[in-house]
Amino acid sequence: MKNRIEDLKKQLEEISIESAEQLEEFRLKFLSKKGQLQGLFEDFKNVAKEDKPLVGNLINLLKNQAQEVYNELKDRLQTQEVGHEKSIDLSRPVEFSHQGARHPISVVRKEIVDIFNRIGFVISEGPEVEDDFHVFTALNFPQEHPARDMQDTFFIEKNPDIALRTHTSSVQVRVMESQQPPIRTISPGRVFRNEAISARAHCIFHQVEGLYVDKNVSFADLKQTLLYFAKEMFGEDTKIRLRPSYFPFTEPSAEMDVSCNICGGKGCNVCKYSGWLEILGCGMVDPNVLTNCGIDATEYSGFAFGMGVERIAMLKYQVKDLRLFFENDKRFLDQFSGAY
Ligand code: PHE
Repeated sequence: MKNRIEDLKKQLEEISIESAEQLEEFRLKFLSKKGQLQGLFEDFKNVAKEDKPLVGNLINLLKNQAQEVYNELKDRLQTQEVGHEKSIDLSRPVEFSHQGARHPISVVRKEIVDIFNRIGFVISEGPEVEDDFHVFTALNFPQEHPARDMQDTFFIEKNPDIALRTHTSSVQVRVMESQQPPIRTISPGRVFRNEAISARAHCIFHQVEGLYVDKNVSFADLKQTLLYFAKEMFGEDTKIRLRPSYFPFTEPSAEMDVSCNICGGKGCNVCKYSGWLEILGCGMVDPNVLTNCGIDATEYSGFAFGMGVERIAMLKYQVKDLRLFFENDKRFLDQFSGAY
């Protein structure tokens, strides 16, 4: 009997408990009705009479000790749980795992607009469904000009005078009709052309066009404005080059290249080993256009430019296929989250 008591006492002293389940095991083993302490009480009746006071005392001490150990362990487990709860910071903001982001075309469009905003160009907007006058006639397109052809333009079937705008120059016509110079505006927007969809062309795309009309506006102003834009968009070391071109609404007209931002002008497969990338069309507003819009061409002059947002985005992010911008594949779009 004494040995059993000693043995249980030793077990009590060495006990280690980590979980509520272990605590319950401990309770069943020592303190329950079928536990070992109860067993000792039951066997107590067989103890020799003269030993009873001593053994009885030992069993009682053991029982109290076991109850104390149990209470203490129970307390400790509870405070651990409470402590664990405390380590959860309830004021922490929720983590959004599926947060949306701006589309890369919106990111680049905003970047272009911001650059021109900084030098005083204000945004103007106009309708996507336009009449022939604003898309072509006011812009000095001769009646038989190929750009009016069904190949390039989506006309409204019932009324060939109405078309989806092929460029946002139509917005600038509207601005000039309703305002007198000085005019300094950019028109970002969606345009439509009847073209086969490929890696380099789409029937819907986005443009940002710019217009500046005032007294004594010169080609030098155009060049400086575009140089500033190129450096802001593609980096401080960017160079520009203007090549003669033709647009019905500008004279002289030019196309602008920027030095290749990938090879720094040394030549690579993106710039087709020329060191230059074409990014926009520009020129001095043809006096006929000013006159068509009610502006005195003897007093005022102006410059205009226009660029494709997809083209700029392709060059900036080295995207090889324009169609990726329209497919909205999440794996593609995810790469631009946080780009603004
Ligand atoms: N409107 C022309 C286009 O859509 C771009 C352009 C704008 C060219 C202004 C010269 C001046 O291609």
